[in-house]
Amino acid sequence: MKQIGTGIAITGSGSATPATTLTNDGLSQIVDTSDEWIVSRTGICQRRLAVPAESLAVLAASAGREAIAMAGLEPSDLDLILLATSTPDDLFGTACLVQARLGAIQAVAFDLTAACSGFVFGLVTAAQFIRAGTYRNILLIGADVLSRWVDWSDRRTCVLFGDGAGAVVLQASDRDRLLGFELRSDGTQNSCLNLAYQPQSQSLLEDTLIGQGTFQPITMNGQEVYRFAVRQVPEVIEKALFRANLSVEQVDWLLLHQANQRILDAVATRLKIPPEKVISNLAKYGNTSAASIPLALDEEVRQGTVKPGDRIVASGFGAGLTWGAAVFEWGLK
Ligand code: UT7
Repeated sequence: MKQIGTGIAITGSGSATPATTLTNDGLSQIVDTSDEWIVSRTGICQRRLAVPAESLAVLAASAGREAIAMAGLEPSDLDLILLATSTPDDLFGTACLVQARLGAIQAVAFDLTAACSGFVFGLVTAAQFIRAGTYRNILLIGADVLSRWVDWSDRRTCVLFGDGAGAVVLQASDRDRLLGFELRSDGTQNSCLNLAYQPQSQSLLEDTLIGQGTFQPITMNGQEVYRFAVRQVPEVIEKALFRANLSVEQVDWLLLHQANQRILDAVATRLKIPPEKVISNLAKYGNTSAASIPLALDEEVRQGTVKPGDRIVASGFGAGLTWGAAVFEWGLK
């Protein structure tokens, strides 16, 4: 009997962004900021915003559809849909809505929340199902509409974020293209970056209180998050490369969560990775949270810059705090 492959191949990518663009000049009409400040401190020029009718499920399904097509699969071939998001349409989960939109009738679907690390955490989670021999075809989507949760009066945060979705297909293969990974969490630093639920005390009976409330807009200590990223991301990348038995020079592309160009530059400098190997599209989209890595990957793949067999080290970092890195070869089975 033929041995069923339990290696991982990443065979398709896709992405979707809303049509509405908000430029830095547009933002200057909302808060006291300027194009000059935003570009020099972050590298961001514009971001896309989802209109009210544009749900997370719509964006995620569009990205997913493209990735499935590139992988040469039908939606009904999927065994699992993993949706990495922090901004669900429904707190009970949005992955099932995506499953229904795609008509992926065989697929199990669930959400995974790890903020801006969601895509890398999702990649490793999906890989476990393939390595265990449980599933063969998995759609992993990173999608977020943080515009719903940004405090649009807070210039320290609202200039950073945008909406979007990106996706990849992982398939069981005889060769394993996921070469190494490392994931980390530190809840003691949770207060650095929050989108927290705030309960309001409500009395049902004399001795029965419940806490019904709402989620509060994003709060962030930008400098703390910046320091955390520049310190921890190079370290976690080195760990993932060590597990892959690879040196930094053997990597073709550095694909970081697209948070801030200064963070990308600082991490690349620390790792001695030249700028031409650093993938960056944050000027156009800002920080799209769980979407940023697969969105940037998909653009490079479709432009032909990232080619089958290219070795990529991807790293996500953000709220939780969470961070992680994965080394993989793109596109080959
Ligand atoms: O997925 C992870 C998500 N989070 C991140 O990646 C955030 C990481 N942190 C950062 O990217 C940077 O810390 C920021 C871009 C958020 C801020 O840049 P910074 O160089 O750390 O600026 P700062 O917070 O030290 O602020 C410098 C000055 C302050 O004015 P004063 O106190 O020096 O007079 C701020 O009030 O810039 C002011 N400022 C602004 N000015 C114009 C802060 N935001 C703005 C703004 N426009 N939008």
